[in-house]
Amino acid sequence: MDSPVDRPNSAHARDIASVLHGYTNLALHETRGPLVLESGRGVHVTDDRGREYIEGMAGLWCAALGFGEEELVQAAAEQMRKLPYYHSFGHKSHNPMIDLAEKLKAIAPMPASKVFFANSGSEANDSIVKMIWYYNNALGRPLKKKIISRQRAYHGVTLFTAGLTGLPGNHRDFDLPLPGILHTDCPHYYRHALPGETWEDFATRLADNLERLILREGPETIAAFIAEPVMGAGGVIVPPPTYFEKIQAVLKRHDIFLIADEVICGFGRTGNMWGSQTFHMQPDFLSCAKQLSAAYLPISAVLIPDAVYQVLVAQSKKIGTFGHGFTYGGHPVPAAVALKTLEIYERRDILGHVRSMTPRFQERLGRLASHPLVGEARGVGLIGAAELVADKSTKRSFLPGQGVGAYCMFAAEEHGLINRAVGDHMAFCPPLIINDSEIDQMFDRFELALADTEAWVAREGLRAA
Ligand SMILES: Cc1ncc(COP(=O)(O)O)c(C=O)c1O
Repeated sequence: MDSPVDRPNSAHARDIASVLHGYTNLALHETRGPLVLESGRGVHVTDDRGREYIEGMAGLWCAALGFGEEELVQAAAEQMRKLPYYHSFGHKSHNPMIDLAEKLKAIAPMPASKVFFANSGSEANDSIVKMIWYYNNALGRPLKKKIISRQRAYHGVTLFTAGLTGLPGNHRDFDLPLPGILHTDCPHYYRHALPGETWEDFATRLADNLERLILREGPETIAAFIAEPVMGAGGVIVPPPTYFEKIQAVLKRHDIFLIADEVICGFGRTGNMWGSQTFHMQPDFLSCAKQLSAAYLPISAVLIPDAVYQVLVAQSKKIGTFGHGFTYGGHPVPAAVALKTLEIYERRDILGHVRSMTPRFQERLGRLASHPLVGEARGVGLIGAAELVADKSTKRSFLPGQGVGAYCMFAAEEHGLINRAVGDHMAFCPPLIINDSEIDQMFDRFELALADTEAWVAREGLRAA
């Protein structure tokens, strides 16, 4: 590979000089530089040296229809010509936003009264928390404000949602979490089940722990529990089958809302329209984004229950306004693209396609578990992860500083596959349009990367305890 330093006017060198990257080791970036992508088609993207990659992560769990979907380009262009911008403040509206709200209500996994639009998953989750605080203040329950999240959850990076996110790297040195956030157990059976514990017993124990936490804090202080159906950015953690039933029974006993964060799982990823359906969740609130517009433009949405909406109405009448909203919330261009995306999902039966590709995807994922580096391979629908371990028999992890996951991710890139290392959890979340032979190619390339990683681990002696 050319060194960026040798080519001072290259995109690599200019990137290093001017761009601050999120979720990147900034020191390493100064020497390594970026992978600069220039174009995409289907499940493939091409870099500025003409090398093609399978996009095994649909970007960031979002480009469901892959790259180069002309109908979405047309939908955006038409809307830009007609009404390139409008907002929803002060009683203003437009058809793309109205149509999209109706559509989301029609396909929602629970009764929803109203839809609120924002631009990102973080903003959607932040908005839900604000609505719940507003609601409880209106009901004269000023103490009922705490939100329970889970270790390894991912709910965003804004001031409040970064605290809801249960990953140490999102808190450390950012002075987070803010007060009012509690974390309960991560439902990862492989890592956290006690010796001899069944899936069922594990789920029961986690629900009991949740109830203990609620009783310790006082149910009158707990407003909501937020959960992704499958934890994505925490390493693709698939919960035990009866987990959410047991958790919801606890929440109901203590009058606590369930917020389903469907930012990754929504729109077919787990084989149903919603992860809530796959995992038997009956949420009060739901947030969605990413695959809502197949990631062609930023847009997110919040589905709001009627009981809350009615209280927001009464309170805003008293105060004179509902003092929340984003300049670009419900922007007509992303809304038009989202509508077209949902139409394509239906017309092309994307759900049927996901279900027919799932056996191949899960079979190839499952095969990874026999590799000496892989402690667990897990997934559902078209999402999964392989967790790399130093010792399969004891499940001992590599040390974070050894960078085994990062090495494997870069090795995959060399073999023409983009995937994502969440620590040492190697994630797969391809565009939903992926076909059988592309699934095979994706895992073939990953197996080459695993072999490279295994050789490097052995060479460097990284398995030493
Ligand atoms: C489950 C979940 N919630 C929320 C977010 C935050 O979304 P955004 O990055 O659009 O703010 C993400 C992002 O990956 C996510 O995976």
